[in-house]
Amino acid sequence: MAEDLDPNSIPRHVGLILDGNGRWAKARDLPRTAGHAAGEAALFDTVEGALELGISWLSAYTFSTENWTRDAEEVEFLMWFNQDLLLRRRDALHQQGVRMLFAGDLADPRIPEHNRIQMADATELTKHNTELSLVFAFNYGSRREIAEAAAAIARKAMAGQIDPETIDEETVAAHMYVPEMPPLDLVVRSSGEHRLSNFFLWQAAYAEFVFPGVLWPDFDRAHLRQAVIEFQQRERRFGGAEGFSG
Ligand code: IPE
Ligand code: IPE
Ligand code: MG
Repeated sequence: MAEDLDPNSIPRHVGLILDGNGRWAKARDLPRTAGHAAGEAALFDTVEGALELGISWLSAYTFSTENWTRDAEEVEFLMWFNQDLLLRRRDALHQQGVRMLFAGDLADPRIPEHNRIQMADATELTKHNTELSLVFAFNYGSRREIAEAAAAIARKAMAGQIDPETIDEETVAAHMYVPEMPPLDLVVRSSGEHRLSNFFLWQAAYAEFVFPGVLWPDFDRAHLRQAVIEFQQRERRFGGAEGFSG
């Protein structure tokens, strides 16, 4: 197996499903929240790896619409942790030219107000950065995103702003949380689970999938690089026939 990375075919958009924090903690007899805390260094090492590789878009699934069903203590920790890491990492990311974006149901009243403010501030501060667009999929669920897009389009149709006959894939894409976000080329899920868990169902329609068997806190830029090498060995067909390149 060739181990060399081709700098000319770097995936444009890589999605990360950060999974395995709880198992990492359990293996060390620690509370699950210690696993989430340990996952922070893994995420930011991976962000640096994405910058080194020249990836333009990186998405990280940090809290799903289904994660509210966890123990109140864990949910509370994740809410606090997600805003605290913004506070601590924001300026360094800004200096590295990272644009921060958030995909999710941010109007959900269960999200603490100070958290919402941190997300808005980070978006505003970094909006002109061009090195890397980093999307936090926070309180994100793909089914909810698609349902919200459908509702928004219906409202516009009712108001006479959209002709229902013209609604197509582009119309739907334009009503997603981050309309300018390109489709995913590569989805990497750590921990060995092989599922999407409601992550970017629409945007991952033609993504390649890589499932490294490491728990998220053990993930780093070397794993990202390895996933990109694996991606480069795949043959993407987009519905065409083998060998067709036109
Ligand atoms: C992923 O790790 C982090 C979040 C969902 C926020 P988990 O907490 O799902 O860890 P496991 O899958 O239970 O090991
Ligand atoms: C997906 O992981 C959500 C995030 C990584 C934020 P989960 O651990 O919540 O997914 P399931 O429950 O294993 O499908
Ligand atoms: Mg999990």
